[in-house]
Formats: sequence, structure tokens, C-alpha cells
Amino acid sequence: MDTIRHCVIPAAGLGTRFLPATKVLPKEMLPVVDRPLIEWAIEEAMAAGAAEIALVIASGKELIQAHFERQPALEAVLEARGKRAELAAVRHSQELAHITYCRQEEPRGLGHAVLCAAEVVGDNPFLCMLPDDLSHAPTPILAQLRRAWDEVHAPVLALMRVTPDQISRYGCATVSQARGRLHRVTEVVEKPRPEDARSDLAIMGRYVLPGSIFEALRRTPTGVGGELQLTDGISALIAQGPVWGLEFDGELLDVGTPDGWLTTNVRLARELGRGAAVEAGLA
Ligand code: UTP
Repeated sequence: MDTIRHCVIPAAGLGTRFLPATKVLPKEMLPVVDRPLIEWAIEEAMAAGAAEIALVIASGKELIQAHFERQPALEAVLEARGKRAELAAVRHSQELAHITYCRQEEPRGLGHAVLCAAEVVGDNPFLCMLPDDLSHAPTPILAQLRRAWDEVHAPVLALMRVTPDQISRYGCATVSQARGRLHRVTEVVEKPRPEDARSDLAIMGRYVLPGSIFEALRRTPTGVGGELQLTDGISALIAQGPVWGLEFDGELLDVGTPDGWLTTNVRLARELGRGAAVEAGLA
């Protein structure tokens, strides 16, 4: 089958860059303006046409699940007090999407987290996104990738040009021919040393992947940092057929580190006309 229904959202990481805030609170529950960042992520997935969300969580992150479940006592109070806007906001998160929770027992890497969604997704192509970067673009970035997939019917990775000193934080893609901003990917390497990087194109946390990635990941040995790397699984896909990379239009805003989170909150609050403190220059 060739239809995309699922979006896999890995959210089982430890969030070590945001300690101590994330010691108990899942990083994905940190608010961005008025809602947790996982809600922004699911909205992006829905905008790209996902009907089913496979949310990969770890034990201790059940708060994420609670956020998307009905909270009848809270609803009853809001209803009794006539707080309609608040009630609508609470219901919005409950009605947003059909979510299946997949468990990753240990943080064994992004590739392993994606593999935890194999049973839910089956053999079908699927969307995948990391929730610690927010799409800020005229068309949401995952939807841009989905459109590219409609054109090429092959895996598509989100690509962004970075400076040489930044590339070793990301997967690095080497590309050949291009159709506008869509490049044929010939090689991917996870976190290369700056002197070894063969391009300035970083792989960002948005993907359209085929069901065959699961088998590729099962065969992939542990990689950089002792973790099963999604990039290494994608490398195996390149050996099987075309893989494309889209230099997307717009920005990904970091919300996975204190600096990025603060900057993104201030920026979005301004843009959305929220936050009197921000406007008053206190932030
Ligand atoms: P990151 O490494 O950026 O996030 O993983 P992290 O592990 O949560 O946070 P830091 O780096 O320790 O601060 C990218 C994405 O992959 C998920 C994370 O939840 C995040 O969304 N992930 C990573 C997993 O689900 N499982 C893993 O084993 C590793």
C-alpha cells in the first residue's frame, strides 16, 4: 500500500540538555506560548495529512498521555464557570488526533525509537518528526515534505544548510542532481567530524520514510554514541533505491534547549500578539 496515514513522533529521549527542568517533567510538556510543545508537533503532523499518530514515549513520560486524554473533572468546572474559551482549549487537545502510544523501554537512540513504532505503522510509508524543533514556515515543513513525496514517491529528508562548525551536531547528507530545492541524496553520515563532512547539508528532524526502514533498522548495528541511529538506517535505504532531500522553505525553531526555548517563546509570543510582559520589554 502506498498511502500515508501515520506520523511517528519519537518522544522517549531523556532531554538532558534541558536539565534540571526535565528531571521529572517530560521535555515535550514544556509550554511554548500557551500549549506544550508536543501539541504543536501533533498539529504539524495533522496539517501534513496524518490521521494516526504513533507517539513513542518512555516510562515516566505518562504526563504526555494524560494531556491528550479527557479530564472530565476539569471540564465540568470550566463548564460550570462558563469558561468557554478554556473549555475549548482543553477539548481541542483531546480531540486533536488518534494517538497510539508505543513504549521505548530504554533510550537506545532515535533509530531504535522509530523501530518501536513498527507494529503500528506496518509496511506503509509514514511521516516522522522530532518534536523538539517547531516548524515556522508559510507551509508547515512536514507538509512540504509530504508534497515532495507525492512527487517522487520515495523517502524524503528535511535538509538545511549549516556552517562547517555546526555540521558535526547533525546527520550530514551528500547530494547529486537537484530538482529545484529537492536533491537526490547519495550518502548520509551521522555526526561527522567537521573535517570529514562532505557537505553543508544537515538532516533535520522531519522525514517521509518507507515501511522498509524498519527492516533496515533491525539490520543496522549500533552507531555513533552507542545508539541505533536513524541516519544509519537511511543509509541502508540509499543502497536500495532513490532517497531525496528537501531544502525546505522556512525555519525550524529550537525548543529543546533553554536558550532555544526562551528565544522561541519570546518570538512566537510577539508574533501571536501574546504576552504583555514581552511587549513591555520585560522579557
Ligand atoms: P535528542 O537527542 O535531540 O533529544 O533526540 P533528547 O534525547 O530528548 O534530549 P537531549 O539531547 O538529551 O537533550 C531527538 C528526538 O529523538 C527522541 C527524543 O525524544 C527527541 O524527540 N529520542 C531520542 C527517543 O525517542 N529515544 C531515544 O533513545 C533517543
